[in-house]
Amino acid sequence: MKGVILAGGTGTRLYPLTRLINKHLLPVGKHPMIVYGIDRLRQAGIEDILIVMGKHSAGLYTEYLGGGADLGVRLTYRIQEQAGGIAEALDLAKSFILPGEKFVVLLGDNLFSDDLKPYVDRYVQQPAGTARVLLKEVDDARRYGVPVFDVNHPERISYIEEKPSQPKTSYCVTGIYMYDDHVFNLIDGITPSARGELEITDVNNHYASAGGLEYDILQKYWSDAGTFESLQEAAVRMKGQLP
Ligand code: DAU
Repeated sequence: MKGVILAGGTGTRLYPLTRLINKHLLPVGKHPMIVYGIDRLRQAGIEDILIVMGKHSAGLYTEYLGGGADLGVRLTYRIQEQAGGIAEALDLAKSFILPGEKFVVLLGDNLFSDDLKPYVDRYVQQPAGTARVLLKEVDDARRYGVPVFDVNHPERISYIEEKPSQPKTSYCVTGIYMYDDHVFNLIDGITPSARGELEITDVNNHYASAGGLEYDILQKYWSDAGTFESLQEAAVRMKGQLP
C-alpha cells in the first residue's frame, strides 16, 4: 500500500509565519510538522509516500527530507501550482497510484497519535471502488466536515456537511482518507465550490451516496494544526512520539 500526504495550500491562518515558511514545515516540538505524518504511515507499514506541496518552500522539503531514507521511507514529490483545493492536490497523485491500488491520504496539517494499521487493515477488506474515512469526536464540529450516519447501515456515512453552522453530529471527518484509484474518476466529475476549490467533501459524498463510505473513530489525540493555538497544543501533545 502507498501513502499520499497533501501539503499544498496557503496556510493563511498562520500568517505571518507562513509567509516565511510553508505550514507543514513549521516546528512541532523537535520536528517539522510533516515528519509526524510520514512516521504514522511508516508505522502502519506504508513506506512508499508521495508528498504534494506548493511551490513555496519546495526546496526546503527536499533539503530536509531528501529521498526519505533517514525516516525509513521512499519519498516522491509533486508540485501543486496553486491552492485549488484538497481534491485538486489529490489528483496530482494519479500517476503515482497503480490501477486497482489502495492507498492512504493524510492532510499534512493533521497530527494524531492513533496507530493507523488496524484501520488500514479494515479498508483492505472493503470492496474495490469504496472509501474509508477516520472520524474524531470534537467540541466544535462547525470548523470541519461533519458526517451524518446511515441509520440502516450503521457502518456507513450517508453524507458529509462541510463546515455546517448547525452540525448534526459531534464528529468531524479528519484529514485521513483511504481510497483506491477509482477516486480519480470521481475527482474528474466534480466542479469548484463557491470558494473556488475542488472539495474533498464533494468526492466523499459521491462515495456516500453510492453506499460506499465507511469509517472508524480515532481514539487518541487528533488535531489539525492550522491555528496558532492548535499548533502550540500539538507541540505538547506530540512530545515523545518521535525520538
Ligand atoms: O482537518 C480536517 C478538515 O480538513 C476536514 O474536516 C474538512 O472536511 C476538510 O475540508 C479540511 O478542511 P480545512 O478547511 O481544514 O482544509 P484546509 O484548506 O486548511 O487544508 C488542509 C490541508 O490540505 C492543508 O494542510 C494542505 C492540504 N491542501 C489544502 C488545499 C486547500 C492542499 O494540499 N492543497 C490545497 O489546495
